[in-house]
Amino acid sequence: MSERIYLLPLWLRLWHWSNAVLIITLAVTGFSLHFADPALPLVEFSLARRIHDLAGLSLAALYTFFVVANIVSGNWWQYVPKPPGVLARCWRQARFYGYGIFRGEAHPYPPTREANFNALQALVYWFIMYLVLPVVVVTGLVFMFPQFAPDQMFGFDGLLPVAMLHYLAGTVIVLFMCAHIYLGTTGVTVTSLFKMMVTGWHEH
Ligand code: HEM
Repeated sequence: MSERIYLLPLWLRLWHWSNAVLIITLAVTGFSLHFADPALPLVEFSLARRIHDLAGLSLAALYTFFVVANIVSGNWWQYVPKPPGVLARCWRQARFYGYGIFRGEAHPYPPTREANFNALQALVYWFIMYLVLPVVVVTGLVFMFPQFAPDQMFGFDGLLPVAMLHYLAGTVIVLFMCAHIYLGTTGVTVTSLFKMMVTGWHEH
């Protein structure tokens, strides 16, 4: 019989789904703006620009909320991979996703209230939430207020490296999201982790 523990507070779940909606909106409109083709627009250019700007500002505000709420609640600690043996635990987890899961092996590190994430999850979530997402937000804001961009960088116009970094970091977020949704299907049932992100209760 499966057991249940309450893992995720309401604020975290509300943040998560608002963040997901904004990221998908930004990805679709960002794709439209980057590969703009007047003959075949995914979203018409000026509409895509307005939606992208508004969703970008909302993401900046939501990200600030995420950081403050993580500090206040102490949830930031979950994102820190705890030694000893971080690499060995990451390897064991990766081996499970690539091999053990297809042989019906048990999850090597089921979540507890003290350690919600396995070591691989903690590393990846930390990298995305505290490194890549802030890069997307800050470069996006500089793009919106170009007076803050340096005039020249590495001999190029100052906005060019900002644009490249924004595009690169945005692409990493989209690739993360694809892998993240796939790994979301690896709970006790295909839907149990998605349900947990709605109800807060983890089943194992
Ligand atoms: C439609 C899009 C998305 C779906 C369906 C989805 C689904 C899920 C699921 C099932 C979990 C629980 C899995 C686990 O045990 O870790 C989760 C957790 C998480 N997701 Fe997503 N996600 C989406 C988008 C995103 C995006 C765009 C980000 C960040 C850029 C993100 C960041 C996170 C984080 C940080 C957690 C862990 C939250 C916590 O427990 O503290 N997700 N997501």
